[in-house]
Amino acid sequence: MNKPLALLTGASKGIGFATAEIMAKKGYDLIINSRHTEEAVEKLRKFGTTVEGVNGNLGDDKTVEALVSLVQKKGYIDALLLNHGGPPVKPFMEVTDLEWETYISIMLTSPLKLFRALVPLMQKQKKGRVVAISSFTVKSPYQGIVLSNSLRAALVNALKTAAIELGGDGILINMVAPGYIATQRILDFNAKYAEQEGLPIEDIDKRTLENIPLGKFGMPEDVGNFIVYLLSEENKYITGQNIHVDGGLITAN
Ligand SMILES: NC(=O)c1ccc[n+]([C@@H]2O[C@H](COP(=O)([O-])OP(=O)(O)OC[C@H]3O[C@@H](n4cnc5c(N)ncnc54)[C@H](OP(=O)(O)O)[C@@H]3O)[C@@H](O)[C@H]2O)c1
Repeated sequence: MNKPLALLTGASKGIGFATAEIMAKKGYDLIINSRHTEEAVEKLRKFGTTVEGVNGNLGDDKTVEALVSLVQKKGYIDALLLNHGGPPVKPFMEVTDLEWETYISIMLTSPLKLFRALVPLMQKQKKGRVVAISSFTVKSPYQGIVLSNSLRAALVNALKTAAIELGGDGILINMVAPGYIATQRILDFNAKYAEQEGLPIEDIDKRTLENIPLGKFGMPEDVGNFIVYLLSEENKYITGQNIHVDGGLITAN
């Protein structure tokens, strides 16, 4: 019998890598994508599982095509994680047309193309588990990050629609919304606000922590463990949800 197979995009670092690492330890075979996968592939192979890396920007059609053709060659897929890096932290008036087009592709159309291309295989298997990483900003749009606020909201609602339409095929689709998780992304995120507000980064971190009831930033594996549960067949009845993993983060709206 085949080992379960997971395809994870944006999986060389941060939350995506933590998820891949937990899956490797559980014995999944993996296909991982990011722009540079070599180091991550080497680390994941140490768990004794089959790991293939596909280098490429998720926003490029040829990356999506390479991922789809690899899965089709295998002939089955158990779990799909849709992820990528965060978009630039920029106010509404500073985002250029080119940035809108670039991030619409990376954050919305390409993940949907990838998933759509794999649906017939999942339908044939009569099962599939899909998770997309979203953000707390979907529920509570945050100043200075319009690309995340808007494009993730579109992805979440597209996937919620798919969850309704494809539930009968045994395909369970969820979104996981991280709060403040200790990765390079959050260092960059708070550094940008420090620069914009002319404050030391320690002040921005302190302000953030005051709004997290658990009093600390999350760890990538705190999110990864939950994603792995949703992607496993242990998850039999959760679909169409955008679930926050955020230490109880208190947001303005
Ligand atoms: N960390 C948080 O607190 C937090 C909170 C809310 C939302 N999020 C969102 O959750 C997602 C993951 O966050 P993270 O903190 O794990 O980020 P991260 O540490 O920056 O990791 C991002 C991953 O995506 C890959 N990547 C970046 N651009 C890509 C592209 N165009 N195509 C394919 N892969 C790409 C990166 O690898 P390469 O450089 O090799 O491409 C890396 O493996 C991001 O969208 C982020 O905005 C994070």
